Amino acid sequence: MDSGKSTVKYGLGKQKDNQLCGNTDNLIMNDWAEFVRNINMEYTQKTGRTRKFRIDVFGCQMNELDSETIAGMLIEMGYQEVTDNSPADIIVFVTCCVRENAEERIFGHIGALASECAEYGSIIAACGCMMQQPHIIEKIKKSYHNVKIVFGTHNIQSFPELLYTYLTKGRRVFQVWEKEDRIIESLPVKRAEKHKGWVNIILGCNNFCSYCIVPYVRGRERSRKMSDILNEIKALADDGCKEITLLGQNVNSYGNDLGEKDLFAKLLYAIEDIEGIKRVRFMTSHPKDLSDNLIDAMKNCSKVCNHIHLPVQSGSNRILKMMNRKYTREHYLSLVEKLRTAVPDIAVSTDIIVGFPGETEEDFEDTLDIVRKVMFDAAFMFIYSPRKGTPAARIENTTPPDSISQRFKRLSELQTGIATNLAKKLEGKTLEVLVDGLSKQNPDMFSGRTTTNRLVNFKAAHAEKGMFMDVEIIRAGAFWLEGKGGNERG
Ligand code: SAH
Ligand code: SF4
Ligand code: F3S
Repeated sequence: MDSGKSTVKYGLGKQKDNQLCGNTDNLIMNDWAEFVRNINMEYTQKTGRTRKFRIDVFGCQMNELDSETIAGMLIEMGYQEVTDNSPADIIVFVTCCVRENAEERIFGHIGALASECAEYGSIIAACGCMMQQPHIIEKIKKSYHNVKIVFGTHNIQSFPELLYTYLTKGRRVFQVWEKEDRIIESLPVKRAEKHKGWVNIILGCNNFCSYCIVPYVRGRERSRKMSDILNEIKALADDGCKEITLLGQNVNSYGNDLGEKDLFAKLLYAIEDIEGIKRVRFMTSHPKDLSDNLIDAMKNCSKVCNHIHLPVQSGSNRILKMMNRKYTREHYLSLVEKLRTAVPDIAVSTDIIVGFPGETEEDFEDTLDIVRKVMFDAAFMFIYSPRKGTPAARIENTTPPDSISQRFKRLSELQTGIATNLAKKLEGKTLEVLVDGLSKQNPDMFSGRTTTNRLVNFKAAHAEKGMFMDVEIIRAGAFWLEGKGGNERG
């Protein structure tokens, strides 16, 4: 079984390509990386051991992809990855600040490393969304002394330079760019998986939903060039990748900043021609920008999976307006109908926030109602968390926390019931699954995903990561399906 764990890949090939396209950023990055590599080689010659790294990643798929880039850089710099929590010379935190509990957890994890740092001389580097907030930087400077290197979402490419500075000068280095710069292509990436991969298509967000911190920490929308994206996907396919997930805070606005309309639909059609890629997923789609052209593309493109993640956030028009979401519940329902007409067995998943400031019982009933009407295959539900600097954080929240918890409980019970009933209809059916390896919940089973993104754990005589298999569903629950047997698809 090939875990694909040991390779370092460049989006467009190595330095040769950078020189051809005159990408000086990356040459500079490579220079710093080489300086660090030399320091590490000397260390290995002296001590007989290779320096190790570990990455702790929080938040969304954007961070997963950033952490693959950071791993790629560290391997370039002569470090070796440890994945099993064993001691490392450098531990990198890729952080998230979308809700307060994410931040609290991260500080908890950093604090818990004090003894590892004291015993082994480990250092901590912190990057990602949370680092874009000045009050967090102050807190780290003051209270978290084992954090030696800090950078933000806009200057991930500075990491080798900062690490070099720390290693040679021995002082803490903080460098967070306030503003986004142009996109830097071809940073090294160590893909976590070979058979499936994330591909950024648009960075940042222009939507400023009133509760959300993301536009402040990830900057404005910047689309990658279509040719860069297609080249990256071709390189992934050549390397054995079967499924790609196109990433953006709002993939539907892909190309707007390049002055092109409906470029996302065109991108989906273009990917159809890439041999080797069998499945295409994308996230996230903002309902206000889900065009008819895109729905047509989903219908016409055979590789696009039968699944859409379409965050509704609330079922109340009054709250949607306060959230600055720019659509109504009626519009949302009409989109779901159009999607189901175009792609009859499409699965729809969503995000919902409970307890937005000023949410009344009536508003909440509207959310329950839209959940009943749509019957989501899956829903990620969150209790509203005020984020410093966002407009919603200035609105007083008068609903008692107990009522909010009660609402959350009612919503999750309703949703679990709906998801279970939908899943039960799959019992006895045979579904195509892309195998991800051994199941996390049941290590004596394999696990994989259907085109509708349902998790299937199944027993089979033989299965391998990256295989497409037909699996018979024998039991179904809200969160995963149990299957048996399985023949590889021809
Ligand atoms: N760009 C994506 C996802 C952004 S963050 C989108 O627009 O859908 C993922 C989810 O976190 C959001 O969809 C929202 O449901 C939730 N979220 C964002 N900010 C939040 C906050 N302040 N409190 C609670 N949940 C929040
Ligand atoms: Fe946040 Fe809204 Fe942008 Fe999504 S679309 S990242 S919820 S501001
Ligand atoms: Fe979190 Fe940043 Fe993603 S705030 S959800 S990691 S874009």
